[in-house]
Formats: sequence, C-alpha cells, structure tokens
Amino acid sequence: MSSVFTPLRYPGGKSSLAPLLSAVIKTNGLEGSVYAEPFAGGAGAGIKLLYAGVVSKIALNDADPRILDFWLAVIGQPNKFLDRIANTPVTVNEWYKKKAIWKNPKQYNLLERGFATFFLNRVNRSGILEGNPIGGLNQDGPYLIDARFNRKNLIKRIKRMSEWRSLISFSGLDAIDFLSAVSAQPKPPFLYLDPPYVAKGRSLYLNAYQHEHHEKLCNWLKSQDRLSWVLTYDDHPSIHKLYSWCRVERMNIRYSAQVKRQAVELLITPRRLYLPEDKPKPLRYAASAFVAV
Ligand SMILES: C[S@@+](CC[C@H](N)C(=O)[O-])C[C@H]1O[C@@H](n2cnc3c(N)ncnc32)[C@H](O)[C@@H]1O
Repeated sequence: MSSVFTPLRYPGGKSSLAPLLSAVIKTNGLEGSVYAEPFAGGAGAGIKLLYAGVVSKIALNDADPRILDFWLAVIGQPNKFLDRIANTPVTVNEWYKKKAIWKNPKQYNLLERGFATFFLNRVNRSGILEGNPIGGLNQDGPYLIDARFNRKNLIKRIKRMSEWRSLISFSGLDAIDFLSAVSAQPKPPFLYLDPPYVAKGRSLYLNAYQHEHHEKLCNWLKSQDRLSWVLTYDDHPSIHKLYSWCRVERMNIRYSAQVKRQAVELLITPRRLYLPEDKPKPLRYAASAFVAV
C-alpha cells in the first residue's frame, strides 16, 4: 500500500501499476510529460510516477467533492493537516465526529472536511467512506479501528506529498469536462483512466457511473486520435464489447490481506500505443521535487 489515501477500490494498492505505466510512458518516448488522471481518487499510481521523475507534473481530478477536499487541504495546508494526523485520537468516538462532518459539510471548513475524508478512508473497512470502521462500531473484530492508521508512516507520506505539491493540481470536474480541457493543451498529457467499476461501482462510489457514462467515455476516447492513454476496468462483458476497437489485456491485481484473493482487471490501450516487452522494473523515487524538475 503506497498511496497515502488508499485507493477505494484497491485496499492493498495496485502495486504493479505505477511500474507498468512508467514502462508504457518510456516505451512511447513520453518521459517528462504531464500526467493527467480524470478519476483520480487517491492517485496511487500518478503520485509514484511523479516521485520517480517519470512525469513532470500531475493534473488530477475527481468528481467526488470529499476527495477534492482531501487534496485541496493537503496541497493548501499541509502543516495543519500533518498536525491533525499527529494529534487526532483514532477512536470510535472520533469516527462519529468525522461522520457528522459528512452529514453537514457546509458547516465545516476545508481542512476539517478534507481531514474527515482522510480519517474515514484510513479507519473504515476497505477505505469505503460510507462504511463502518475496521473492527465494527463495537470494536469486537479481529482488527481494530487504528489497524491502518500508522501515524509515523502517514506523516512521512503526507510530508513527501507536500514537498511535491507545486507539481500537483487537483480539480473536481466531471471526467469528460476535465478530459476535454486537458486534451486541448498544445502538448496533451499522458492519460491514465480508472473509472468506477461497472459491476460494483454503484455501491462503492458517489456519482456512480451508469452504462451511458461508460459508453460516453468510450466514445470520447474513440474520437481522439493523438492521445496516449491507458485505461483500467473490471473484467465485464460490456467493457469487452465497448472497447473491441482497442487492445484489451487481462492482468492480475493483488488485493490486501483483508481481501485474500487475486482479481482480474482489464488493461485497455489504443492500438497505436506501444506496450513494453520486458517486465516493468520497480520505481526508484527521487530524493526531492527539486531533483526532478
Ligand atoms: C476506481 S476509483 C479511482 C481510484 C484511483 N485510481 C486511486 O488510485 O485511488 C474511481 C473514481 O472516480 C470518481 N468518479 C465517479 N464518477 C466520476 C465522474 N463523473 N467524473 C470524475 N470522477 C468520477 C469516484 O469518485 C472515484 O474516486
């Protein structure tokens, strides 16, 4: 798990994805490009590519206002955010307080809302914001609410993120609006798209995608003939059908200890993009943002 804000869908992190994207970027001579992610969530892969100096900037976007709040709070007020990680009790009582923020978000400031997203993501089962805490409300499960709240580690990760913050932007647009804006740049970015699941999306995310949205995204990508992009999806018949004009490969995703199984995910790319032949190598992070720019 290396994203500071655990990807909602992959509690254990898609550990092999960033090296794979790095290899795709290098194979196609796109090193140093801007990287853009319209369905960013915790942007697990993008942030690693930035730290490794593979891309020069990351432009992130997510339509969920709670996720936007998290990123804006971290990027805009990192020290106050770090202070909250260091000093907030990780208890069920605190969990109720953070839940209350989401019932009436307008009554709270950006830092409070952003930290509440982070807190709930870290302490809830599988990171699902709407869910219950690890160990349950009675804390009688095998793991307890603080199982994934390692303060020292989280502080280290948020500190690193804050050092790179001048190279990170975040917006809260609908994916297609974001895609239209970034692709109109003179030098379009490399795109990684990780839309909500077709099968489970409705229960996992706010603004869940319906079939018409998946179809619209597909048509938008089809209409672009100069963009370099990688798309991941759940292995669903409707996606095979929609993307029959692309290269569609199955890849194994390693889930966390909480969900002990291998899952298959689709890796979809336009046929004009070259795929690396060798197994992707692990990424090495640059010491600081100043090395990479
Ligand atoms: C599979 S998750 C992305 C996980 C991400 N790759 C990560 O590492 O955390 C899909 C994301 O799409 C967002 N989303 C749903 N509908 C959207 C829309 N219409 N436009 C942009 N983002 C949307 C959800 O809020 C969710 O965070």
